[in-house]
Amino acid sequence: MSDVLVTQAGSVLEVLFNRPEKKNALTAAMYAAVVDAFRHADEDPAIRVVLLSGAGDTFTSGNDIKDFQSRAATNEASHASPFLDALSSLAKPLVAAVNGAAIGVGTTMLAHADLGIAARSARFMMPFTALGLVPEAASSLLFPRLVGHQRASALLLLGDPMDAETAREWGFVNQVVPDADLIATARGIAARLAALPPEAVRQTKDLIKNGRGDVPGRIAQELVLFRDRLRYPEAAEAFQAFVEKRKPDFSKFA
Ligand code: COA
Repeated sequence: MSDVLVTQAGSVLEVLFNRPEKKNALTAAMYAAVVDAFRHADEDPAIRVVLLSGAGDTFTSGNDIKDFQSRAATNEASHASPFLDALSSLAKPLVAAVNGAAIGVGTTMLAHADLGIAARSARFMMPFTALGLVPEAASSLLFPRLVGHQRASALLLLGDPMDAETAREWGFVNQVVPDADLIATARGIAARLAALPPEAVRQTKDLIKNGRGDVPGRIAQELVLFRDRLRYPEAAEAFQAFVEKRKPDFSKFA
């Protein structure tokens, strides 16, 4: 079974993170599969909306941490980079259905979704600093705008979690629903979008996004820092602690 399931339901392309035994942690192959799905969605006139969700009890626990470790060792290019390009430039509307944990890029990717539905179990978290990293996906630009500087600092500097209701109050998701209603609600929203005149929808999305400033520039700036940080001892300690299921010790760092 593939780690990303892509199915077409009428004119909606459903993309499901499907690696529940690893909390849908994202590997290079998974990023590539999502990039292909987004490209296909934009190229195929029969597809009008993309719906993103996660299998099991998690939306996604973010980038696979073992993959971070191997990239740090080999200085390999970021697998997330083509994904972030495809995500931020997707012309068709993206609806996200989030249940359980959405961590790291699991949260930052949602700042690019056009409509977000959260299950009551949803919990958003961006623990970049605790991993010795910096934010990505232009979250350092989009979150201060969306929720204000101080709240963005709590989310991005401290890595504080944001529950579903807080995410709705702060305008990060549109709606909170019981877990059992999540997919049906998201499919309902996707169906409403799919029934609208498609070009008007695409142009409206483009106009809304045009007001968001230099997102591609910030994504690129963050990725340079992020790639460097993957090789630093702070990150190495954080990743090894996760693998060894222990608390990291940053006391020796200046
Ligand atoms: N990368 C690699 N493996 C991951 C992972 C990740 N981001 N998230 C979870 N896993 C793996 C765990 O190592 C574990 O594997 P194992 O069964 O071989 O030991 C399995 O998925 C289940 O995770 P576990 O931690 O036991 O589940 P949990 O319900 O106790 O906690 C999370 C779930 C998502 C809260 C927790 O796994 C977590 O915090 N993950 C890391 C999130 C993170 O820091 N992501 C990077 C952001 S930049």
